[in-house]
Amino acid sequence: MAGEYRKGPGRGRTGRGRKAAVAKPGPAKTGDGKVGRRTRHRGKLPYTTHAGDGVVVNGYSERWLRQGFPWVYQDEVVARTGSLVPGRVVGIRARDGSVLGTGIWDSGKIEVRRFRRDEGPVDADFLRTAVAAAKDRRPLPPQTDAWRWVHGENDDLPGVRVDVWGDQLTLTLDSPALHGLLGPLLDALTTLHETNAVWLCWRPAIEQAPAEPLPVADGSLVWGDARREPVMVQERGVSFRVRPWAGADAGLYVDMREVRRWLEPYWVARRVLNLFAYTGAFSVAAALGGATEVVSVDLAGPHLARLRDNLDANGVSTDQHPLREADVFKALDHLRRRGESFDVVIADPPSFSHGPSGAWSVERDYGRLIAACLRVLSPGGWLVAACNHGGVSPKEFQKHVAKGATKAGRSLRLVHVGSPPVDVPAALDFPESRYLKVWVLVA
Ligand SMILES: C[S@@+](CC[C@H](N)C(=O)[O-])C[C@H]1O[C@@H](n2cnc3c(N)ncnc32)[C@H](O)[C@@H]1O
Repeated sequence: MAGEYRKGPGRGRTGRGRKAAVAKPGPAKTGDGKVGRRTRHRGKLPYTTHAGDGVVVNGYSERWLRQGFPWVYQDEVVARTGSLVPGRVVGIRARDGSVLGTGIWDSGKIEVRRFRRDEGPVDADFLRTAVAAAKDRRPLPPQTDAWRWVHGENDDLPGVRVDVWGDQLTLTLDSPALHGLLGPLLDALTTLHETNAVWLCWRPAIEQAPAEPLPVADGSLVWGDARREPVMVQERGVSFRVRPWAGADAGLYVDMREVRRWLEPYWVARRVLNLFAYTGAFSVAAALGGATEVVSVDLAGPHLARLRDNLDANGVSTDQHPLREADVFKALDHLRRRGESFDVVIADPPSFSHGPSGAWSVERDYGRLIAACLRVLSPGGWLVAACNHGGVSPKEFQKHVAKGATKAGRSLRLVHVGSPPVDVPAALDFPESRYLKVWVLVA
């Protein structure tokens, strides 16, 4: 079943991460800003399986669990036993009583996240072993201290993500039901890695909106000693300022590191258009790589301000590399009418957004975006087409790109298929995690 998209509400929700749009943070139990090193947050500790607490799943779920899929959806549970409260460690069984594993129960559509395939505990030792194994699997490039240490389901820690930002860490949990893991995870992370601070962020999926407030406010400092100030990190020697407390909006998408590395030899003497530029990871890479001009377009002024800071941090001036605060479609139209052309166009949009030219949805508008990009791409130029929305399958992505090329009357050749780096792995039995599609195409 690897490679097959699984039915159910989980499809498409494992992209780079949406902010917890529907979860209302409860009162913070930690103060913002500077907190002493002894600051510790400990969730409730529901680690031992309470005998009899568990779920029995239907045949469809059983089939997927046996393949390694890490979730049980609510509508796949045929019986519930014992006392089930969010956060409780529960047994998972098939209808014939055979053991399918042990997980953490939740009240949302993902009813159980399976942490292990046997009946053992989900305790401090188990978590420490999993976190240490994840670290051992990550040979990082030199001069790189921004990386993903734990990639949730793909590291056998469903709903748990850990990002390393220099000497600070961001721990992101997908549900308040996982709050009980906080204490042992903090112990494991801070003993296995020298760090000054750990920030806690939440990423409940829209359909998983918890009824109750979050137990700790989003973006809280839960361990250590740090101010809410940008941290300078390195990606293969290139500097970026990031905000570890901001979760998905930290400021650098490390899943694109390998794509930036692959492009490195090809920037020289090229005129580059970076659309949806955000904080400018591609802009900085292109400018440092010898591009003659990098034009960065983004709707959000504050993102462009961060982009400017990142250029500045690398000794690159915006005199040569202009920033345009504009809607991408309007900017592309304007550039086309002026007869401008670029040797490289980068289109790495969000899944959804609202701009002056209306609401954008990658599922609906990607073909139109590709066509608009191709109208400003010089003959022989390169289009870097990316899509991080898990709801768009690789096949659908290909269709969108082909549709855009037809619309613009250009023929395209594929020269590179990008993939995430070693620290953003995709478990074969969890196809949802292969959200990233990146093609480099020559026109
Ligand atoms: C997913 S991030 C892009 C990541 C970026 N390509 C990178 O490499 O870091 C999305 C960015 O698109 C911008 N954006 C969203 N809708 C837009 C639009 N219609 N026009 C221009 N920028 C837009 C957002 O402000 C945000 O900075």
